[in-house]
Amino acid sequence: MTLTAASESAAKLELPPLKLGPITVDTPVVLAPMAGITNKAFRRLCREYGGGLYVAEMVTSRALVERNRESMRIISHDEDEDVRSVQLYGVDPKTVGAAVRLLVQEDRADHIDLNFGCPVPKVTRRGGGSALPWKTELFTAIIQAATREAAKGNVPLTIKMRKGIDDDHLTFIEAGKIARDAGVAAVALHGRTASQFYSGQADWNAIAELREALPDVPVLGNGDIWSAEDAVRMVKQTGVDGVVVGRGCQGRPWLFGDLQAAFEGTDNRFRPGLKDVADSFYRHAELLVDYFEDEGKALRDIRKHVAWYFKGYSVGGELRAALAQVPTLEVLRELLAELDADAPYPGADAEGPRGRAGSPKRPALPDGWLSSRELNADHKAMIAAAELDVSGG
Ligand SMILES: Cc1cc2nc3c(=O)[nH]c(=O)nc-3n(C[C@H](O)[C@H](O)[C@H](O)COP(=O)(O)O)c2cc1C
Repeated sequence: MTLTAASESAAKLELPPLKLGPITVDTPVVLAPMAGITNKAFRRLCREYGGGLYVAEMVTSRALVERNRESMRIISHDEDEDVRSVQLYGVDPKTVGAAVRLLVQEDRADHIDLNFGCPVPKVTRRGGGSALPWKTELFTAIIQAATREAAKGNVPLTIKMRKGIDDDHLTFIEAGKIARDAGVAAVALHGRTASQFYSGQADWNAIAELREALPDVPVLGNGDIWSAEDAVRMVKQTGVDGVVVGRGCQGRPWLFGDLQAAFEGTDNRFRPGLKDVADSFYRHAELLVDYFEDEGKALRDIRKHVAWYFKGYSVGGELRAALAQVPTLEVLRELLAELDADAPYPGADAEGPRGRAGSPKRPALPDGWLSSRELNADHKAMIAAAELDVSGG
């Protein structure tokens, strides 16, 4: 793959390795957990380009404790994944504690993250994800249960959250302090509220504020890093100890190579031609076949990556449409062979925002959720059912 010096003089920055309890992450970069994306296959592709911590897509604590087949697949790691990182979603301290215990006792993870950032209505409607830190006591109980179990195996536990529910109901500073007091190894903040979903711009000032409010624990910044230069800018602007990158690497696993280079202070950047992108796309599909052990399922899954990989490259409408319906590896090979193997990196068109966007809307919350920081009887009953059948962030 083509490696070039960035055309503009790249911002340089050297940041010390990220320490998460006993783990040292040499490049202070985290692949954000993304449901349906950051499985073993995609993590491998990303890891091959650069250093960092590569978090699996979230798994529901309840389903994990019940050893649901799909959950066991989600927490599976490649032999050579040095740091096996798992993200748990949960709303009940006992179940979350049990899920952490399972991971620790059975030596299935080296790092565990808790998801308090999910804005998906199915989740927040039942008080989970980004709705949860509003209920201080429940939030505290979950983190304490999780850190207690994680500490038994010396496994670092981190949390990932949003700023709050909306601008009138911000929770991030308080939640960060609760997590710090419970002994988490780091706190990650996505600089949006739940009501913003993925719209507008991430608020990096809030990330700086959290960094300042928590001088004694690593703080990681998340939101709208589309390039290595953005990552450097975030570190300079906020003082964070590391960056968490989500949508920016969709269809661009080589971004982790750029990030490593930037944090090592070099200008080297991947500028893939169309053939490089096609090769990576095909490899991704192959790895998904291994992961799902089902070619049909893997090929259905790769379809959602088409627009991300080929963003900005000259691929005809008909070919794009065919790729978005590709049924087998064999057909995929035939379709990719139709691409112009000499087409160069297209520049700015291949860069920039990708993936989820959308517009702000009132988050779906349980009735009366915002009227108090404590759970009422109805809420208690509701959260008991909230862990079932959720995915996404
Ligand atoms: C498709 C998709 C799935 C996601 N799934 C999760 C998840 O499982 N757990 C989580 O904490 N966040 C999840 N997120 C949120 C991301 O981790 C990240 O916080 C968010 O995308 C903002 O970062 P970015 O601007 O770098 O994309 C998801 C985001 C997307 C786009």
